[in-house]
Amino acid sequence: MNYTFSNRMSTMRGSAIREIFKYAADPSVISLAGGNPAPELFPAADLGDIATEYLHNEPVLSLQYGVTEGYTPLRDAIKERLKRVENIGTDNDELIVVSGGQQGIELVTKCLINEGDTVIVEEPSFIGATNAFRSYNAHLAGVPVEEDGMNLAALEKVIAENKNVKMIYTIPTFQNPMGVTMSVEKRRALYEIAKKNNILILEDNPYGELTFDGVKTPTIKSMDTEGIVMYSGSFSKILAPGLRLGFLCAPREIVAKAVIGKQISDVHTAMLPQLLAHAYLTRFDIDALIVKMRANYAHKCATMLSAMDAYFPKDIFYTKPRGGLFIWCDLGHNLDTGVLAKKAIEKKVVYVPGSTFMVDMAKPTSTLRLNYSTMSDEKITEGIRRLGEVFGEAISG
Ligand SMILES: Cc1ncc(COP(=O)(O)O)c(C=O)c1O
Repeated sequence: MNYTFSNRMSTMRGSAIREIFKYAADPSVISLAGGNPAPELFPAADLGDIATEYLHNEPVLSLQYGVTEGYTPLRDAIKERLKRVENIGTDNDELIVVSGGQQGIELVTKCLINEGDTVIVEEPSFIGATNAFRSYNAHLAGVPVEEDGMNLAALEKVIAENKNVKMIYTIPTFQNPMGVTMSVEKRRALYEIAKKNNILILEDNPYGELTFDGVKTPTIKSMDTEGIVMYSGSFSKILAPGLRLGFLCAPREIVAKAVIGKQISDVHTAMLPQLLAHAYLTRFDIDALIVKMRANYAHKCATMLSAMDAYFPKDIFYTKPRGGLFIWCDLGHNLDTGVLAKKAIEKKVVYVPGSTFMVDMAKPTSTLRLNYSTMSDEKITEGIRRLGEVFGEAISG
C-alpha cells in the first residue's frame, strides 16, 4: 500500500531531539541534548501516597470521565497560584487544564490559525511549538533573539513585511533553546507593538519558576489590559513531565473555543494526574520543592559554564542563563553543528544542533543547545571536555 499522508503531515519530520534520544538511551553516552528535568527531584513518594489514597478513597473521581475544562479544584488552585506568583488573571480571563503545555500551544493554533496565517516566532524557538504551527500550515516568520530577548526592530520589520500576522509566540523567560530572558522594557514594548498591530501574543512560560537567584521578571500576561495575551504554563518542570499536565490562561472567548478543540483532541486531561497536582499544590509545599530545583539547576549550570570556560576554544560565544535548563552556543567559523554532532557522538556526547530550532531547519548553522539538568557534575564536565576537543579540532581545521 502506498500511503498518501495529509498535506498537514506530509512535510513534518520527527524531532531531531527524539532521534538523538536514541543515542542518549545508551548509558555510556553523555547526553547534553534533552530537556528532561532532573529525576532525583521528582516527589515520587508523596505522589505515590496521594495516588494510593485517591484510588482507594475516591475511585469514581479518579477513574470516571471528567470535564474538559479540568478538575475544578485544580483550576482554582492554579488560578490562585498564578495570581499570587505571577499577577496573572483578570475577570476577562479563564483557565483550562491541558495535557501538557504542548497541548495548550496546539489548541491555540487549532482555534486561531488558518492555513497561510503568519505566526511570528523567536529564532531560535522551541521545536514543539514551531512544529505545532507547521502542522496547521502556518507561515512561520522568525525574529532573532538577543541576550535581552527578541530584537524588536526586526520584529517590526517582520510585521510590516508579512501578511495576515495573527500571533507572536514567545518564551520570554529562560528561553528554550537560548536560556536568555527578555527584559521588562522589551516585554512592555513587545506588548505595545502587538496591541498597535492587532496581533495576539502566546506567552509560553514553562521555566519561569526555575530562577537561580529568585529574581522574577514580570510576565507579559500580567501587563495585559486588552485581552491580547494567552499564557501557557506547565507542571512538567516544577512537578513531573510524565504527568502530562499544563494549563492555558487566556481571554474567556479563546478558552471557550479551546474547550471545544480539546473535546476533539482528548476529551479531558487524565483525572489521576490532575488529582495528584491538586493535592500537591494544596497539601504539600511545592514552593519548597521549587527552591530545591532552583538550587540543583543553578549548581549544574555553574558546573557546565566553568567547564566551558576551561575547555572550550576561547572565541566560542555562549549564553549565561539565570534560570531554566539550557545554554546556547555559537561556534562561529562557518561550522555546521549538524556535521559536528556526528563527531561528538563518536566521542559519546550528544547535543542538539541549532538548526532544529530554526524556521528553516535545513540550513546549516554554527549554533547548538546544551542541557545540564540530567547529568552528574562529573559527566557534565567530561562531556564539555570532549566537546571542547571536537570544536577545537574543527576550528583549527
Ligand atoms: C518552551 C516550551 N514550551 C512548552 C513545552 C512543553 O512542555 P509540556 O508539554 O511537557 O508541558 C516545553 C517542553 O520542553 C518547552 O520547552
